[in-house]
Amino acid sequence: MVGRPQQWLSERTEQDIEQQNALLQLERLPRHVAIIMDGNGRWAVGRKLPRIAGHCEGIESVRDIVKASAELGVEYLTLYAFSTENWRRPQAEVNALMRLLEYYLETELEELDQNNVRLNAIGKIAALPKRVQRILATAIERTRDNTGLVLTLALSYSGRWDLVRAIQLISLDVRRGKLSPEDINENLVSSYLSTHGLPEPDLLIRTSGEQRISNFLLWEIAYTEIYTTETLWPDFRRQEYYTALAEYARRERRFGMTSEQLSWDESGMPSTRSYLSSLFDFLARRRA
Ligand code: FPP
Repeated sequence: MVGRPQQWLSERTEQDIEQQNALLQLERLPRHVAIIMDGNGRWAVGRKLPRIAGHCEGIESVRDIVKASAELGVEYLTLYAFSTENWRRPQAEVNALMRLLEYYLETELEELDQNNVRLNAIGKIAALPKRVQRILATAIERTRDNTGLVLTLALSYSGRWDLVRAIQLISLDVRRGKLSPEDINENLVSSYLSTHGLPEPDLLIRTSGEQRISNFLLWEIAYTEIYTTETLWPDFRRQEYYTALAEYARRERRFGMTSEQLSWDESGMPSTRSYLSSLFDFLARRRA
């Protein structure tokens, strides 16, 4: 956020600054947070309101979490705003969600830009209404050179859609002779996904008590820590976000290794011989 007005920062309360400082002192904030924003409908139905009221209130949570992420220096925030499956909802709800997306982009663009946020989108963007596509393209272009938080909206997105698309693109490049099947490895697959250029999420948050991935970032979350909460998305604000971030900071990520390995530095790495000798010692002691 170097050299840019920090409007959001100035809006923070003393207590919020203290809480954020405490989180920053943990020195283990995720670089990339992905969120499945769920429970808008239930939030509204519980208040005898139309479902769209839940989506409207959900926008306030989006605003708060985007701001808190930027303030804390989280580098990437990816929000599951509309899945490929969401097209099956009643047309009136789909239309309302598209209008809300337009509203969010139009009312928030100035502030996102002033706060150095770079907007990005993944998914089958061509499937969105033309007007949404135009507003989205303008917002992406306007914030293109910003160097702060990268805010990615997943729109008409699903993990399987992205994988199928990547497989098609790879196959085409093999057919054209640009690639051979032996070139295909994990890095190459990642580079054909719409998330290329984003690091894999460190933390995935899902609200509303569901314990599913719902076709979100299937390839990218192989090693991601998951935080789920009963809180419905419209009630999920920065206080609980801080709880999720603190919980993440407490966890140990092993990437398939042992706890001991994670604390070894290069010189402290035991040789195969000493590893085997302690194993034999252990077996001998057990036999004795
Ligand atoms: C899931 O709640 C939420 C969605 C399908 C849409 C999320 C959209 C927003 C938060 C507003 C627009 C977003 C942006 C980024 C401007 P649900 O309707 O499935 O809730 P339910 O499971 O309780 O029915």
